[in-house]
Amino acid sequence: MTEAARESIRPSSLLSLEDQRRMRANEANWDARTPIHVASRFYGLADELDPERWFAPFEWDDLGPLDGRDLVHLQCHLGTETIPLAARGARAVGLDLSGASVTAARELAARSGIAVEYVQGNVYDAVQTLGERRFDVVYTGKGALCYLPDLDRWAREIARLLRPGGRLYIVEFHPLLNSLGLTPELDEGTALLLRHDYLGGRGPVRRDGTHTYTDGPAVTGATECFEWMHGIAEVVNAVTGAGLRVARLRESHELPWPRWPDMVRTASGWWRLPDPAPRIPLLYALLARA
Ligand SMILES: C[S@@+](CC[C@H](N)C(=O)[O-])C[C@H]1O[C@@H](n2cnc3c(N)ncnc32)[C@H](O)[C@@H]1O
Repeated sequence: MTEAARESIRPSSLLSLEDQRRMRANEANWDARTPIHVASRFYGLADELDPERWFAPFEWDDLGPLDGRDLVHLQCHLGTETIPLAARGARAVGLDLSGASVTAARELAARSGIAVEYVQGNVYDAVQTLGERRFDVVYTGKGALCYLPDLDRWAREIARLLRPGGRLYIVEFHPLLNSLGLTPELDEGTALLLRHDYLGGRGPVRRDGTHTYTDGPAVTGATECFEWMHGIAEVVNAVTGAGLRVARLRESHELPWPRWPDMVRTASGWWRLPDPAPRIPLLYALLARA
């Protein structure tokens, strides 16, 4: 094989054929979810809401100054987090697998008057798709890693996206959150049980994505989607295995939206379990340096 041919191979094509098929199913499912999300109260795109409401205050501390920094937001969906990052001065690029999401994100950025570049692509091909550009900050999370079958390959792609000294910042729902579910007989309360895997390793979970996580009508058409569980150790080992140095790991008992019915609002505007529920991590943030 020639050097040119080798370079033109998309890294995503090195994943198993089954995982490539699952990612195509996810792409179609996210395209189908997008119009529902755009119209939803959950994302509130028609409302005059604080664009920074998806961010915890500690995120800005960890990210540090963004002014003039090159930043890529992986799995940006509608760009609801990309816009605030750009508004803080970053030269922001959002990348997402779903063409419908990228189109909606471009429209939202144009309406907000904030300059953001959006690119459609698979995170596993990010270096090629972004033309070998390098970034000071890679930001991702809040419902992103569960769509990735292989974190080692993902972390290696991120390491190649970063300039020396650049930062990876993952702010992601905690695997403990994903493993909890309401007890079937108490579905109006916060009686939570461990109902799903915390650790990965059992392969993908096939879901019927008819009901997305926002308000609005059911998804029609491409309802099949796949998720992969990733424990904290898997994330940390993928990041350090790719040569990045973990600078900080946080666990937070607050979420940007009320995941269960009787969660209570905190002073930061986020949500936590009501007292006297045990204080458990619902979200984590990992800062790593190249
Ligand atoms: C829940 S959203 C996360 C974004 C943001 N935190 C939010 O809540 O709007 C998940 C996004 O990941 C994207 N996605 C899933 N698999 C991907 C992949 N392999 N490469 C790039 N984007 C992917 C989907 O298209 C979707 O827009």
